[in-house]
Amino acid sequence: MRVAQVTEFGGPEVLVTVEVPDPVAGPGEAVVEVSTVDTIFVETQVRAGAFSDHFPIQAPYVAGGGIAGTVRAVGEGVDEAWIGRRVVTALGFSGGYAEQAAARAEKLVPVPDGLALREAAALVHDGVTATALLEATGLGADDRVLILGASGGMGTLLVQLAKAAGAQVVGVARGERKTSLVRELGADAVVDATHGDWTEQARAALGPAGADVVLDGVGGELGLAAFALTADGGRFSAHGASTGGFAPVDTDEADRRGIKLTGIADLQLSDEDYTRLAAKALEAAATGRLHPVIGGTFPLDQASEAHRTIEARTLLGKVLLTI
Ligand SMILES: NC(=O)c1ccc[n+]([C@@H]2O[C@H](COP(=O)([O-])OP(=O)(O)OC[C@H]3O[C@@H](n4cnc5c(N)ncnc54)[C@H](OP(=O)(O)O)[C@@H]3O)[C@@H](O)[C@H]2O)c1
Repeated sequence: MRVAQVTEFGGPEVLVTVEVPDPVAGPGEAVVEVSTVDTIFVETQVRAGAFSDHFPIQAPYVAGGGIAGTVRAVGEGVDEAWIGRRVVTALGFSGGYAEQAAARAEKLVPVPDGLALREAAALVHDGVTATALLEATGLGADDRVLILGASGGMGTLLVQLAKAAGAQVVGVARGERKTSLVRELGADAVVDATHGDWTEQARAALGPAGADVVLDGVGGELGLAAFALTADGGRFSAHGASTGGFAPVDTDEADRRGIKLTGIADLQLSDEDYTRLAAKALEAAATGRLHPVIGGTFPLDQASEAHRTIEARTLLGKVLLTI
């Protein structure tokens, strides 16, 4: 089978298509014939050699961890009823950019009838994390929420889920096309982070007390500026590092102001939570309550181009690979 392999850490060109033996389902595993592969921003950072303390991956490795496809074989101890079923699963940080993948059966999630595998693939990571974030922050109808990175794969889902929960949503995105998209998705107000006075605009939209909940999907200085917009007694999720690092929030100040901080560690999910949250996100999409924004699709042998596109920040929403 063909896979897109990261030959060594570096630029998008290190992603090349190679032939490897087909996977075999070991005990507790299923082999999935992959139809669509999810890509996420952090995969470009891992490919470039960043976060090696967090993702102990050695090159060469097959990139990607989120797939949608059909189960073709099962290993010892796995119910044969899975064979032929359409599923999504998260493999971890490698093995996904492939025509087939061996997955742990405990982490397979059936795709509801009526939902295309393409849309399902777009929810493998973003839909799960977005749903987990809503639960972790207890976001509800009384909340004013500020969403950074609102035009990205996960941000576009967070805007929709927060609106559906009844919250007042202020999105932060960059540039006219992206702010328009966030407005179309239902945000009550959208602020352009490329404008020097964006924090003042956000404060005006949120009201003088600020945001009850901040969902920071970008980190760095933007995330830090958003921390200042968090209301006393509010919640701040520092799960984003697309600027290169998480928001360097002063934990003493958070304590003083009674702000509950959560971060990437709170999003490490058990298999049980993963399958529960994925099923919830897939069901929301199948019933038309959640619309993944798919900005572009690339064939497997153009995985390097897909990474270039993610890094160029030109597409809206997310990028997928089709097999
Ligand atoms: N997807 C998940 O399941 C998951 C899980 C845990 C954590 N996260 C984190 O959540 C964040 C969003 O992930 P994603 O998968 O949704 O990625 P994505 O679709 O590629 O979105 C990235 C977001 O970050 C923004 N961004 C990138 N570079 C930026 C910069 N230099 N300054 C300001 N904004 C910048 C982008 O805005 P522009 O389009 O304007 O560049 C976009 O809104 C990432 O930091 C990721 O590590 C994601």
